[in-house]
Amino acid sequence: MLKQGFLVLSICFLSACNGDGTSSSSSTTVSTSKNTVDESTLTLKQLVGKKLFFDANLSEPAGQSCASCHDPDFGFSDPDQIMSTSQGVHLDRFGDRNTPTAAYAAFSPDFHYDEIEGLFVGGQFVDGRASTLKEQAKGPFLNILEMANPDKATVVSKVANSSYATLFQQIYGFNAFSNIETAYDNIADAIADFEKTSFFSPFTSKYDAYLAGKATLNEIELLGLKVFEDEKKGNCAACHPSQPSNGVPPLFTDFTYDNLGVPRNENNQFLNLPEHFNKNGRNHKDLGLGGTTHVNNSAEYGKFKVPTLRNIALTAPYMHNGVFKTLREVVEFYNTRDIDLKWGIPEVADNVNREELGNLKLTDEEMNALVIFMTTLTDGYN
Ligand code: HEC
Ligand code: HEC
Repeated sequence: MLKQGFLVLSICFLSACNGDGTSSSSSTTVSTSKNTVDESTLTLKQLVGKKLFFDANLSEPAGQSCASCHDPDFGFSDPDQIMSTSQGVHLDRFGDRNTPTAAYAAFSPDFHYDEIEGLFVGGQFVDGRASTLKEQAKGPFLNILEMANPDKATVVSKVANSSYATLFQQIYGFNAFSNIETAYDNIADAIADFEKTSFFSPFTSKYDAYLAGKATLNEIELLGLKVFEDEKKGNCAACHPSQPSNGVPPLFTDFTYDNLGVPRNENNQFLNLPEHFNKNGRNHKDLGLGGTTHVNNSAEYGKFKVPTLRNIALTAPYMHNGVFKTLREVVEFYNTRDIDLKWGIPEVADNVNREELGNLKLTDEEMNALVIFMTTLTDGYN
């Protein structure tokens, strides 16, 4: 958790951003109930980003888009709630990690080390290995377990032959497709711009309405909120902040990294992949932040980025390896990790947080209230 200080957020909050970073004055309401984007509210670049994000022709073979795993109807996460991790466009391949939401990801600051706190903060992917949304967007197209294109040229050629190729040229120039590196960079640029729109971060949950004084929480939801925030109860807000900060509604993450001691997931399909996809086989252990090339430090092994809890009721399964199927199970884990042997040993035993969780002594009613409170974080409340 962050002990002090605020995150500097450099995205255009609650409004569309023009390409130059200024805010557009036009209305940006997005019909989240049907989860469709009102294209008239988008800048040209965001519109191209939208076409790219939903284009299932951009995998090899065709069939998988970014939205296949980050479906707006499922909190911008994988609609498949049975499998722990996501299936690639090749149906016999699975990634090693549970798909996180792409919603509110735009609020993660660029990856950095906070000297005052002595902590790594921000970035994209659950281990922070991409610093920005743009860097992140370059990954999935070429990931052999995901969209599986052999190279950048293949992706660029598909975009050059798409129905929106001329729109792409309107933004990036007539020669937009002639240099593969630049074109690939700009594909990621347009996607990142779309991910910064209010379509991804609508702030329309019941809890937002409650904070704005436009809805009331019932008794059990209020109890859940209290348990969530109380340092002597759930203490959840220590890492998943629940109050506005610097004029931004709560994001339910402070974008820091922690090892909760989450157990291994024996059902993770990645463990069964052949050696050329998974060199360690069933001994695979996910080192998280500490295992990335840019951090590469055993003091950070097992740490994963604190995820937002917005739309959490829609994004099962839970944790980086998808080991928990329900929110109730997550809460029980926080409550009894250190006193109930059934949880087994952590996937990574180093650096486990022993101070803020593990034996919370919550009653059954308090755990139930926590789960119900988290369901008030789903967008699209009327
Ligand atoms: C096969 C499923 C799949 C596809 C397709 C996919 N993703 Fe993801 N996405 C994931 C997984 C799994 C992760 C987490 C991986 C990790 O941290 O190593 C992730 C992480 C992300 C994140 C970071 C979220 C965070 O909190 O750090 C963003 C943003 C994102 N994806 C956007 C995209 C975009 C844009 C595309 C298309 C170019 C895309 N994804 C395609 C599964 C997918
Ligand atoms: C010390 C910081 C910390 C505290 C305190 C904390 N969390 Fe978390 N939470 C995390 C981290 C880090 C993860 C991701 C861990 C992983 O994937 O291995 C996480 C994951 C989750 C998830 C799964 C999210 C997803 O998308 O898979 C839920 C739900 C959750 N926390 C709820 C809570 C609740 C409820 C509490 C209070 C009882 C709480 N957390 C307290 C850091 C914290």
